[in-house]
Amino acid sequence: HKGGYKHFMAKEIAEQPVVIAETIRCYLPSGGDMIDLKEADLDFSKVSRLTMVGCGTAYYACLTAKYWFEQLARLPVEIDVASEFRYREPPLPEGSLALFVSQSGETADTLAALRYCRGKADHILSVINAAESTMARESDIALPIHAGAEIGVASTKAFTCQLVVLLILALKAAADRGTMSAAQIAEHVAALRSLPGAVNSALEQSEAIRRVARHLSEASDVLFLGRGLMYPLALEGALKLKEISYIHAEGYASGELKHGPIALVDTDLPIVVLAPSDGLFDKTMSNMQEVIARKARVLLITDEAGVAAAGGDVWSTIAMPAIHPALAPILYAIPAQLLAYHTAVAKGTDVDQPRNLAKSVTVE
Ligand code: F6R
Repeated sequence: HKGGYKHFMAKEIAEQPVVIAETIRCYLPSGGDMIDLKEADLDFSKVSRLTMVGCGTAYYACLTAKYWFEQLARLPVEIDVASEFRYREPPLPEGSLALFVSQSGETADTLAALRYCRGKADHILSVINAAESTMARESDIALPIHAGAEIGVASTKAFTCQLVVLLILALKAAADRGTMSAAQIAEHVAALRSLPGAVNSALEQSEAIRRVARHLSEASDVLFLGRGLMYPLALEGALKLKEISYIHAEGYASGELKHGPIALVDTDLPIVVLAPSDGLFDKTMSNMQEVIARKARVLLITDEAGVAAAGGDVWSTIAMPAIHPALAPILYAIPAQLLAYHTAVAKGTDVDQPRNLAKSVTVE
């Protein structure tokens, strides 16, 4: 049941501090930095390439994780959506680890991609929510995300819990491969332990986001921009908005703006800019100024330092708590989800059962 919430999606968004804490507790049980993958026998120093596959939101979790595995563990990563991957029939070099991300563990294309990799990859690993699923059974190693049942068709808590597990795996890879010092790993683990509290503070922005969403619900198109780790989240924010509010939305890498989409920019195209004050902040701000100069209404989602540094003619800002830059995509998923949710509620669409969509896509 909905536990007092109007929609399952609202309940599942609100549950995130608790389920994320549970996921962290399962993989970092000691209170120290020791990563516990239970019986899973995984040594990333023997892996030469990681191939990650998923659909929809799960694919965006893979795209986010690509940045982590490459930057933290210096591991080459290939990712694709399952429906392309399986028919592309890519060669898998020796030492390949194939990783499948799925909430349901039953998505037809992801399952077919997993079966394609059998016999070609050294290990088949899945990151799933449904522990009893077909994908879990057919993997060498299945890592549950512990998000609990997700009923709303739009994936919310499964996405953030997938990201937590993938980040912990990237840290394990970095430890195995010697690409991070013990102190650096400890710093990331400490940041992870503070994540549930930060997610809780992010949820407090719900009312402010609801006010902005009233305006957004009148738009016919919305653009999401992000750079680095915020780029996959821009894609995810756009997917969330389109699937439940039926407003056309696109996510773009901020640096790609000049290569086409800036032609769309005018007063009728609200632009959501996702930009924590990290090493790429100034770059994203200059992209933001370019759209503001073309009279776009910008909703800037950043932190307190970002609000102060952004200055000028931003239409609206939402402030997140300060966070370790590596964890920002998990935290900033909260305002992206709330924005889609409140916009859909303002439009009066069926939030939990959007038209034409099914929770588990078991036919291709
Ligand atoms: C979006 C959404 C879908 C799923 C996709 C994969 O909110 O829910 O894009 O992420 O259908 O489903 P799973 O994770 O069950 O394989």
